[in-house]
Amino acid sequence: MRSSGVIELKELGDERGLLTVIEEKKTVPFEVKRIFYIFKTVPDVRRGFHAHYKTRQALICVSGSCKVHLDNSKRKEEVILDKPSKMLILEPNDWHEMYEFSPDCVLLVLASHLYDAEDYIRDYNEFLEVYGS
Ligand code: TYD
Repeated sequence: MRSSGVIELKELGDERGLLTVIEEKKTVPFEVKRIFYIFKTVPDVRRGFHAHYKTRQALICVSGSCKVHLDNSKRKEEVILDKPSKMLILEPNDWHEMYEFSPDCVLLVLASHLYDAEDYIRDYNEFLEVYGS
């Protein structure tokens, strides 16, 4: 079943440090077509403000931390990404905003589709029309 939410990834650790693995269709529940990362963010600036028609995403703060506001038109939630072993799955109908980036934040995003500006819903009222009950 498709659903957004946080997945705790295994930390494989030994005396040399830690390592975390993400495997397509195993740990991340879709085929990964695109990878991007957000870094050198500006204090007090929120990003995102959109949902998608098709794209599913997995967000991991590989350095630092940030918060994510989620809204699937039925439920609003705030998720804190504060370690590299925490992965947040976003379904297409999750309106999302990212904020409170720590200065060292690197937010890694795995996406199920190639970039397509037409796949974005950037207007909140349109989002409610498409996904609201
Ligand atoms: P944008 O969607 O505004 O970022 P955010 O969701 O964090 O607010 O993306 C910033 C710019 O990067 C915008 O010009 C679109 C471009 N972009 C791509 O070209 N390819 C991509 O995969 C992504 C995510 C963005």
